[in-house]
Amino acid sequence: MEKKTIWKLAGAAVALVIVTVIAGAFSDGGLMYHLKNRGALGPLTRSDIRYQSVAAPEPTSHDGTVNASDWAETYPYIVASWGDNAKNSYVTSYLEEDPYLVNIYEGYGFAIDYGSARGHEYCLEDVAATRRPHPKANCLTCKTPNFAKLVNDMGVGVYSMAFDEVLGMMEESVSCYTCHANNPGDGGKLTVTHSYVVKALGDSVNDINPGVMACGQCHIEYHFTPADSETMMPYHDVAGMTPEAILDYYNSIDFYDWVQPSTGAKMLKAQHPELETFLHGKHAALLNCADCHMPIEMADDGTVYHSHMLVSPLENEILLETCVTCHGDTDMVSFVRRLQARVTARETEVGNELSAFKDALAAAVEAGKMSETKLDEVRNVYREAQWFFDFCYVENAEGAHNSELAFRCLDTADAKIAEGLALLGT
Ligand code: HEC
Ligand code: HEC
Ligand code: HEC
Ligand code: HEC
Repeated sequence: MEKKTIWKLAGAAVALVIVTVIAGAFSDGGLMYHLKNRGALGPLTRSDIRYQSVAAPEPTSHDGTVNASDWAETYPYIVASWGDNAKNSYVTSYLEEDPYLVNIYEGYGFAIDYGSARGHEYCLEDVAATRRPHPKANCLTCKTPNFAKLVNDMGVGVYSMAFDEVLGMMEESVSCYTCHANNPGDGGKLTVTHSYVVKALGDSVNDINPGVMACGQCHIEYHFTPADSETMMPYHDVAGMTPEAILDYYNSIDFYDWVQPSTGAKMLKAQHPELETFLHGKHAALLNCADCHMPIEMADDGTVYHSHMLVSPLENEILLETCVTCHGDTDMVSFVRRLQARVTARETEVGNELSAFKDALAAAVEAGKMSETKLDEVRNVYREAQWFFDFCYVENAEGAHNSELAFRCLDTADAKIAEGLALLGT
């Protein structure tokens, strides 16, 4: 073959590749999407963000918290994306999905009303509307910056004030102040405003990435202290953030959330231990919550920013592209969905066993043939089985944050159920 022909062929091949790449860009998702994600250069990163240093605007709130609309002029795209959380309004009832829960939670508010989470915008509305009883203001802890500010200004006495009295003082659902205090103008500096976190963790708070702690202020296991109904975490460091260590702590202070009428057991209710689950998982040392839930986007005027609309990485093309760096060409959506399906199947199995164990215990209590000492022994096994089951069930990622921990919790619950049934002689 002559040299000329080779060059012609090579030229045609290059042209073909270029045409294919451009056509591909238009066909899957549009050119804009690829430009914003810079094709082969990969997704935008923090180094593409121009961090600003500006003074906080004058607050328009009654309590000095600079609210989201006050920041709109400085950060139009961030504020707009925060508002987009309102689009995330779909709720399913866990009690209808998993009817065994009604039995397990008997005697507690979650047996009456327990729906899936939705956008942060709805926090205040949902806490005011829930049919679970909430006599005290401490239920507002994770819903609004105005409550965090009130506690910071007035002290822990606020937690035991009447819910309805304090609700009237709340202006905004979760907002800029929650994660940034009044400092977003300082290059988006993150500040933990929920004082109990700092109180519980002390200096260990510095061991945790600020982008994890910002979310971890609320996506966390907590309890209300018996003394003054203060919201509090059951540990002092990351090592203490396991279901085993937390249970030991609750046992050591004889803590329980409710006494179950039919079994007489002193029960625990886990909350939403995303922080704990994540920190003992495989991504803990590599990523923060924002990396997987806040896509870095580019506005039409070229501004690059973290979208503050908190999304599932499986439903966001930009975030899915970031997985590639470490996971290569794995189809992440089916990889994660398969893992979650395994967790859910095991959860349903153990949940139904737990419900049957509870019935057997209630029957033994009703029959009155066993000694109280023996019954107490079984009640304690039941309390612990329910704790391990719940720790997995209520964590919102359904195994995606830490599947090893999810299965460990369910296996532990399963073993305790067998132990309890053996004690009952069934
Ligand atoms: C002030 C407390 C608080 C902070 C801080 C917080 N969340 Fe939430 N989050 C909540 C509450 C409460 C809900 C449930 C809202 C509802 O259902 O009304 C929720 C729900 C969610 C949901 C589910 C939304 C849906 O539609 O299913 C995601 C995802 C989420 N949060 C992620 C995050 C991430 C990521 C961060 C950190 C950047 C964060 N959250 C920080 C309190 C908080
Ligand atoms: C639930 C917590 C949370 C809330 C509420 C929140 N932010 Fe952020 N913000 C973050 C996190 C997390 C980051 C990213 C930190 C990182 O780079 O890991 C961030 C980043 C930023 C940055 C730095 C620039 C960038 O794009 O990364 C600015 C500025 C900012 N936020 C402003 C705001 C404003 C204004 C509001 C209110 C509308 C707000 N934030 C509400 C958690 C929050
Ligand atoms: C490696 C990526 C990754 C990191 C980092 C990560 N998550 Fe997730 N998260 C996921 C995935 C995947 C899901 C499952 C999403 C789904 O089911 O659609 C999820 C689900 C969730 C949910 C439930 C969402 C819903 O719609 O119900 C919440 C809440 C959440 N994460 C909070 C957090 C918090 C808080 C952190 C930091 C402590 C964090 N995540 C860190 C990947 C991540
Ligand atoms: C910085 C590297 C890195 C990035 C980016 C990353 N991962 Fe991972 N991921 C890992 C490592 C390492 C493991 C552990 C692999 C193993 O043990 O085989 C892992 C494991 C997982 C697991 C299994 C966790 C478990 O406990 O079973 C899921 C689910 C997952 N990743 C989802 C995601 C998703 C979704 C994204 C993108 C939104 C993502 N990852 C981005 C490094 C990363």
